[in-house]
Amino acid sequence: LFARPWIFIRGVPAMKFLPPEGPPEIAFAGRSNVGKSSLINALIGQKGLARTSNTPGRTQELNYFVPDGFSGAKDDLPPLALVDMPGYGFAQAPKDLVDRWTKLVFDYLRGRVTLKRVYVLIDARHGIKKIDGEVLDLLDKAAVSYQIVLTKTDKIGEKAVPHLISDTLAKISKRPAAYPEVIATSSEKNRGLDELRQAIVTATAG
Ligand code: GTP
Ligand code: MG
Repeated sequence: LFARPWIFIRGVPAMKFLPPEGPPEIAFAGRSNVGKSSLINALIGQKGLARTSNTPGRTQELNYFVPDGFSGAKDDLPPLALVDMPGYGFAQAPKDLVDRWTKLVFDYLRGRVTLKRVYVLIDARHGIKKIDGEVLDLLDKAAVSYQIVLTKTDKIGEKAVPHLISDTLAKISKRPAAYPEVIATSSEKNRGLDELRQAIVTATAG
């Protein structure tokens, strides 16, 4: 599945533009600049498909990606869709914009029936911040399954990774909707990608 080409099918600026509920959706959430779009590109092995940037606030809509070769007709739906999301917690953009993105992200996470799992990305250098905690609270409350992914692990020492994983696991151990495994990744060094692909396939089937 991840070896075939993927395509961008839709950018969703507001809830009313969501596609009709179809294939299971796997969403990537996290603070601005944490590496959501880069991770999607690394997973499907297509560098420029999801747009990335040094500047936080790059992704401004819910962007839908699916494997190519499905018409999208009722009897020819792709087996899953990956949804790249605007980042939250970005203070530098105009407030009305930030408010709109945040509302879109929160509404989608809370209310999408076909959303199978959310990957909540946490920068390995920063750990779980207050705003991440608020997103996890929302997912727990809405009973939406989620799993933590550490990003940019190439930026911390290799020896620090196992400790960070167990530390993060301890922090989420009381959270009801948290999947009790943390995946450490680097899109730059292609680390943890097979583990994440496997988890996505399992979550989609379940
Ligand atoms: P927004 O769409 O703005 O919320 O950001 P995002 O979470 O989609 O982040 P994006 O993928 O655009 O990456 C942000 C920056 O981090 C870019 O400069 C990437 O090159 C860099 N980056 C992403 N993943 C990694 C990684 O694994 N290692 C390193 N060193 N840099 C990374
Ligand atoms: Mg992005």
